[in-house]
Amino acid sequence: MPIHLTINGKHVTAPEGATILEAARANGIDIPTLCHHPDLSNIGACRMCVVSVEKARGVQTACTTPAAEGMVVNTMSPEAIETRKFVLEMLLTDHPNDCMTCEVNGDCELQDLVYDYNVKWPEHNGKRHQYEIDPDPNPFIFIDRNKCILCARCIRACDEIQNRSVWNFANRGFETKLVAGADQLLLDAYCESCGQCVAYCPVGALFDKMSLGKGRIMQVKKVRTTCSYCGVGCNFDLNIRNGQIVRVTSAPDAPVNGMALCVKGRYGYDYVHHPDRLTRPMVRAKWLDADTVAEQVKSGQWALFTEAQQRRASLSYRRTSGNGKSPAQDSQSEITPDTFVKTDWDTALDVVARKFTQVKKDHGGDAFALLASAKCTNEENFIFNKFTRQMLATHSIDHCARL
Ligand code: SF4
Ligand code: SF4
Ligand code: SF4
Ligand code: FES
Repeated sequence: MPIHLTINGKHVTAPEGATILEAARANGIDIPTLCHHPDLSNIGACRMCVVSVEKARGVQTACTTPAAEGMVVNTMSPEAIETRKFVLEMLLTDHPNDCMTCEVNGDCELQDLVYDYNVKWPEHNGKRHQYEIDPDPNPFIFIDRNKCILCARCIRACDEIQNRSVWNFANRGFETKLVAGADQLLLDAYCESCGQCVAYCPVGALFDKMSLGKGRIMQVKKVRTTCSYCGVGCNFDLNIRNGQIVRVTSAPDAPVNGMALCVKGRYGYDYVHHPDRLTRPMVRAKWLDADTVAEQVKSGQWALFTEAQQRRASLSYRRTSGNGKSPAQDSQSEITPDTFVKTDWDTALDVVARKFTQVKKDHGGDAFALLASAKCTNEENFIFNKFTRQMLATHSIDHCARL
């Protein structure tokens, strides 16, 4: 049975069991939050979402109060606004004035709310925490407890999504502090470095260590991609600055994984820019026309596998030019039949197509056996299957999760 209620004078309906916050947001009415995240359980910790409810005493937290039939809610009552301002002021009394150099400047929920409610950073002589910055040697998770607003989103993300339960709060009152395990290092507390806690942190208290100083939200372009590590097909956003991947961030609308990623998907991206990475197809010299190799290598369109080979080959080409011999035939040549030549894709694919056609003609389709990979996307494996059975005419196809 849907519930009927009134929010800010608007008559709305909500499914049974919905909170005031869910009812409001489903009807386009925003209520500010900090400790709430739709993926996580509600704990009503921050009091940012307070609203006034007719006939109820004081203000109510919209994220934990169930919507009820006939309820009349005001999300912008003077009491609600004053309470939110007070909460923000309290948070800033123990928060560094660091937005200018903070990694999450422009991507910080606290900063946005402080702006929306026009709250000033309080100068005071009271106590502020002075925690050590980046105290944990974990290579992926940067911690700055001075910026922690004790919202417990990291605790719930680690517990409810990752099922590791690494984080918790120690102590009480002003001494409350986010700790891993029994105030241990992350890895000793069985952290598996998935970075979920970072992804759910609304401020700069947790951040991706590999991305420190590499570029803030306004300096990067986000490019949605599918992870290349396994067949689950998680989506995420590559954060690109000056043509380099500087960070991976979760894509909440990713259909397979939502915000969740494993350590490989989130932090295993530096291989992309590794100088040893093969970025062009390579063909053995014996499968190519020797004169074309000489010509293309000389013109710089193609290259040999190593720079040393490339240097030696340039000399050889000069020595052999015009003698009619292929580099492979020439005893002076540094190019052997098995030398890899970096070509263009059209040339490489032509060679493959030619060889496949020849083998099929000479020996039939069952001369082939193909191994697909669980690391490919469904679409890639579908095409691979079609290619194997329909083009090569064999059913010898299998796959391996580790390929
Ligand atoms: S965490 Fe947010 S509010 Fe705090 S310094 Fe960084 S940008 Fe500013
Ligand atoms: S990185 Fe993953 S496992 Fe480690 S504390 Fe964060 S959420 Fe938990
Ligand atoms: S580290 Fe971030 S997510 Fe965790 S409690 Fe502090 S502010 Fe919240
Ligand atoms: S968002 Fe409701 S109490 Fe924090």
